[in-house]
Amino acid sequence: MNYSEIIGVGSSVPKLVVSNDDLSEFIETNDEWITARTGIKRRRIAVEKNTSDLAFESAVAALKNAGIDKHEVDTIIVATFSPDQLSPSVACLLVKKLQLKSRVMAFDLNAACTGFIYGLEVAKALIENGTSKCTLLIGAEVLSKIMNWEDRNTCVLFGDAAGAIVLKVSEEEKVLKSYVDSSADINNVLGVAKEFNNKFKDYVPVKEYLYMNGAEVFKFAVKAVRESIEKVLELNNLNIEDIDYIIPHQANYRIISRVANKMGIDINKFYLNLEEYGNTSAASIPLALSEAVASKVIKEGDKLLLVGFGAGMTYGATIIKY
Ligand code: ACO
Repeated sequence: MNYSEIIGVGSSVPKLVVSNDDLSEFIETNDEWITARTGIKRRRIAVEKNTSDLAFESAVAALKNAGIDKHEVDTIIVATFSPDQLSPSVACLLVKKLQLKSRVMAFDLNAACTGFIYGLEVAKALIENGTSKCTLLIGAEVLSKIMNWEDRNTCVLFGDAAGAIVLKVSEEEKVLKSYVDSSADINNVLGVAKEFNNKFKDYVPVKEYLYMNGAEVFKFAVKAVRESIEKVLELNNLNIEDIDYIIPHQANYRIISRVANKMGIDINKFYLNLEEYGNTSAASIPLALSEAVASKVIKEGDKLLLVGFGAGMTYGATIIKY
């Protein structure tokens, strides 16, 4: 039986920092409202770069951190719902940007903000069944291109970023059992519309913006995060005391503090950086992981619980020994 381990982490964020005050210059909002409702103070916005550029930079950083030759990579998975274009995938664009010449399976995976958790489950399975020996898993989003910048309910929440890990075959089980799940979005509370022109039907162009019913998503998120934490601990026969840090999808401070309160978990167990970057969807967990490793908050041997939720609705959690 093969096991897998994370041997490198890296991230990339665009240079432009947009504060809450900057947003209040063109929409009716203010720093006090955004901070109190979400905990977000700033976000990064990509102006010249697209998703594959940020993904590339995070991949290069993760490969450097891993200290391996890029040609060892045999699989690239990019979790994203804001690819450069529908095809080729961001993963295939990376094969080109990284100038990989060896055999590489490359594909994108869309599980919205849970993309990294889903991607880790797939990457782990590919390593366990012998298909891959070394996988580059990246969460990358340029959400600013699918924001409705006139909708203050959504545009204040999101940011652009990428985070990457290198996952390698290992003798020790370091990526433990995951819990991944989905439930139907019956009331269509979260998504991005997309419609193609079809000569044979009436075509009404739709605006390709992210839409969201915030209150409904909030309720779902609290339940999904709680359930995922409980289920993944149970699957691995662990207690919350066994976990050094929880790295949640960084959507909203209030969601995390509600979960912490309900579950009696110390809020300091949650690693949070959403104040700086906002909600970067599939990039948020690897970005936080990479930052926590770089700042030495997370050390080798720490047990981490990664937990995500997002459109679909999708949710899930994984436990790793770093
Ligand atoms: N600035 C100022 N006022 C605002 C803003 C804003 N940016 N946005 C909304 N308001 C107003 C509303 O219009 C409303 O005014 P009204 O009472 O006059 O109608 C008032 O503030 C309260 O609005 P609510 O929607 O009730 O505010 P709420 O406390 O629910 O907070 C929020 C809104 C922050 C969106 C919250 O519902 C939330 O965090 N939901 C979860 C969102 C989330 O996590 N989404 C992403 C998850 S999945 C993924 O990552 C893709």
